[in-house]
Amino acid sequence: MGLFIRSKFPLLGVDVSSTSVKLLELSRSGSGRFKVESYAVEALAQNAVVEKNISDHRQVGEAIGRALKKSQSRARHAACAVAGAAVITRIIQEPADLGEEALETQVQVDAEQFIPFQSDEVNMDFEVLGASTVNPNNVDVLLAAARKETIELRIAALETAGLTAKVMDVEAFALENAVHEFCLEPAERDAESVVAVADIGATMTTLSVLQNRRIVYIREQVFGGRQLTEEIMRRYGLSYEEAGLMKRQGGLPDNYAIEVLEPFKETMAQEINRALQFFYAQSQIGAVDSILLAGGCAGIDGADVLIQAKTGTRVTVANPFQRMDVATRVRKESLLRDAPSLLVACGLALRSFD
Ligand SMILES: Nc1ncnc2c1ncn2[C@@H]1O[C@H](COP(=O)(O)OP(=O)(O)OP(=O)(O)O)[C@@H](O)[C@H]1O
Ligand SMILES: [Mg+2]
Repeated sequence: MGLFIRSKFPLLGVDVSSTSVKLLELSRSGSGRFKVESYAVEALAQNAVVEKNISDHRQVGEAIGRALKKSQSRARHAACAVAGAAVITRIIQEPADLGEEALETQVQVDAEQFIPFQSDEVNMDFEVLGASTVNPNNVDVLLAAARKETIELRIAALETAGLTAKVMDVEAFALENAVHEFCLEPAERDAESVVAVADIGATMTTLSVLQNRRIVYIREQVFGGRQLTEEIMRRYGLSYEEAGLMKRQGGLPDNYAIEVLEPFKETMAQEINRALQFFYAQSQIGAVDSILLAGGCAGIDGADVLIQAKTGTRVTVANPFQRMDVATRVRKESLLRDAPSLLVACGLALRSFD
């Protein structure tokens, strides 16, 4: 008998982003401690995912297949997420006294005004969050809708890799769950505290502000590590793949740190500060207590210090594994190096324990 209980069907969290697929599987002990059972990242070709949408499901599926093999996971069921413009989420109010069936009908009727697609083109789901704070006779209902086509392409990609999609989540919800479960200090779990997640990926930077474990503000801007990769390619005459590899593993000329990396870090700090100021100008929520730095660019040495200085807000680099155990077959150094970009994968893997 093992120490870690595995759910009957372990779910593999599969995060398909614009530059890679990230696989992660968790188990949980009787005392509630989590353990990383398997993990792998596999790069995607440049055109396979465009603006969060899969454009080539075969290519993505093959990458998932290679990652699955690398990860040595035996899981055959997956939790995946949709994101971007094809997904709509919204909190609506419904009367608290409706029965289950009447509520479902009412939600469907009310949802139509928020969904800019034909109703036969979308999959919709909802969850009752609880009594509305605005009107005690109402309940807050969280609505999520996504284009069927978007969902079907993800399912097809998973199938190519021999995986069955058991959970189709929304990326923002997976992020919320991962941050709440793995990244907050006890004081930050306080309902009043406001935490901003700054995710700096390859092409996109997303600022999500969380209060009371929900995202209350989200804004994307076009900025990311790709800009650094392109500068490296231009300066040193390297290919996209070479530049991407060397910026992580080193081996670039001596002037790289001062002449290329430092200016990029400066820009990063400016972009985060601008995003934060934009949030302050738009919202009445008030000051952000801390910034959680996520995405691949969070791993750049010293970026946190610079962003903290620029914004005047406490910055921590996201590490969802800080209180987790790690199975021996998992390469711990690469897991920890990639940790800031694995929040969504962690949130998806968590769905094993619903
Ligand atoms: N240690 C590191 N140092 C510098 N850059 C890194 C490091 N690790 C990853 N990156 C960069 O981070 C980016 C990938 O981050 P991430 O996996 O969060 O992006 P993504 O989610 O695929 O992209 P997007 O969010 O734009 O769709 C790439 O540009 C990569 O080169
Ligand atoms: Mg990303």
